[in-house]
Amino acid sequence: MCGIVGYIGDKNAAPILLEGLSKLEYRGYDSAGIAVAENGKVQLHKAVGKLENLIKKTDGGKKMTETIGIGHTRWATHGKPTENNAHPHAANRFTLVHNGIIENEAALRKHYLEGVKFNSDTDTEVIVHLLEKFVKEDKDVKVAIAHIIGELEGSFALAIIDKEDMNTIYAVKNKSPLLVGKGDGFNMIGSDAMAMIANTDTFYEIHDKEFAVITRDSIEIFTSYAKKVERDSFHAEIDVSDTEKGTYPHFMLKEIEEQPLVIRRIMQQYSDEDGNLVVDKDIIKDIKASDRIYIIACGTSYHAGLVGQTYIEQLAKIPTMSYIASEFVHNMPLLSKKPFFIFISQSGETADSRAVLVKVKEMGHKCLTITNVKGSTLSREADHTMILHAGPEIAVASTKAYTAQMAVLAVLANALSDNPMNLKYELAKTATVMESLCNNRELFHELSKEFFATTRNCFYIGRSTDYYICLEAALKIKEISYIQAEGFAAGELKHGTIALIEKDTPVVAFITREAVNLNTRSNIKEVRSRGAKVLTISLKRISAHSDQIVIGDVDEMFAPLVSALPMQYLAYYAALIRGCDIDKPRNLAKSVTVE
Ligand code: AGP
Ligand code: GLU
Repeated sequence: MCGIVGYIGDKNAAPILLEGLSKLEYRGYDSAGIAVAENGKVQLHKAVGKLENLIKKTDGGKKMTETIGIGHTRWATHGKPTENNAHPHAANRFTLVHNGIIENEAALRKHYLEGVKFNSDTDTEVIVHLLEKFVKEDKDVKVAIAHIIGELEGSFALAIIDKEDMNTIYAVKNKSPLLVGKGDGFNMIGSDAMAMIANTDTFYEIHDKEFAVITRDSIEIFTSYAKKVERDSFHAEIDVSDTEKGTYPHFMLKEIEEQPLVIRRIMQQYSDEDGNLVVDKDIIKDIKASDRIYIIACGTSYHAGLVGQTYIEQLAKIPTMSYIASEFVHNMPLLSKKPFFIFISQSGETADSRAVLVKVKEMGHKCLTITNVKGSTLSREADHTMILHAGPEIAVASTKAYTAQMAVLAVLANALSDNPMNLKYELAKTATVMESLCNNRELFHELSKEFFATTRNCFYIGRSTDYYICLEAALKIKEISYIQAEGFAAGELKHGTIALIEKDTPVVAFITREAVNLNTRSNIKEVRSRGAKVLTISLKRISAHSDQIVIGDVDEMFAPLVSALPMQYLAYYAALIRGCDIDKPRNLAKSVTVE
């Protein structure tokens, strides 16, 4: 959600900022802006809508000369997405960009800023006026920033420039992500490593309530008491080509088709010298010492958690339950005596999940984060991390991270088992079946045309783990094609929802579990006799002649990994046919850094 980039060096800053912002577009935004500075003058450039509008407006920054600047893509939380509300926001001396929400902005305005004229509707503007005020009182920028950190409540990543010192960028972080990139003769800041990877692969973390003072050749990090912190840098393992679409028309399609490769990469990354799939002994020890596992996640990651919960219960025999983070945090169930928490988050930055993590850490419980992003907030703050190895996922709609999450949860469950299965063999077979589905994409395109070209709504039904796939299928098609969709436990339809079935309502049924095959097929008959147009997706060994999509056989346990592909393709093509912005759907952000 929102992106921040900053550059200080000897090159023209604007094109570097715009390039950095383009790498952050995937996070979601509705306006963009940059501030570039030289000789005591700061120039602001802003545009509503796509970054392209700002690039056009500034001619790509080519003719600018300023060598220091900050940039922002805004996902509006306070005030409409207008040019006036777009960041950067400036007062007399300071100019800044902000990612997050200032929860006590009203109280701060009242207490400190009575009579100050505001130019926007944002919560952000409070920060810049407070900074002006505190600098006058505290006489030192660092002390004033520390003062600000003490006053602000909520989430805030900030990049600040000062008209009176054109050799410094200040970076402040609390809850929202922000990294410092170290270069040779230049330094940068960015919401993630991808924004800077074209320029550097060396980074410093800034922890919550810390700030950094960055010049062309120095990076200093301070606590909220303005006390200097010593910290080692780290290298990010991102291949620049991973952040490009290559020959694909959309990142989503590229990421769908990377899934067989990701499964093989997971097998490789979790193999020991003898080729066995293994998990860090300390993780196993901590989980085995617990009496119940609580999986916490949001959206697609929550749906992967539901499948993972069945893996852990079946293989490891440990009671496990998945919860939506934003609910769990305010409505925590009675915990068992020795709980263990697993956080699943592609980005590792999701504020709702983090709020739970902070709470359970305070309660003294152990936890593991399963994430795609090494060094992300949720990974740093948990006791343990397991990496997804899916490579950067750029499309807002999660695809390869979802199947990677299920695969990594299978690796964990198997490692916890007293009677492990030959998981390597099963995952290899899964990857091969995934590949054959990718070779069948035209079938999915045709079926999408038939079922989703004009429909207003659709339903996904299934039982057991097929139900979990239905939840994800509905989310996928909703978020990118805007078709109103619901995933239902097939047996539950007749308890109310079947009233919504009309002539030609599309119903997609998943049938991959032998034990419920006949039950789901009865439910199909029920909806068909009320006029529904049914599309059936089944595993080969329990398929019927009339099933339109038949998936090659895998062990039933891994059916969710393979049936993910047809449902992702169907959503992709539905969005394509309906002319939607597939990689950047409306109103959504890739990394949801506000609660
Ligand atoms: C997935 O398609 C969604 N865009 C969304 O539900 C996402 O899975 C959710 O916001 C959680 O994100 P995370 O995995 O990065 O924590
Ligand atoms: N809350 C701020 C605003 O609405 C920042 C939003 C963002 O993170 O982009 O302007």
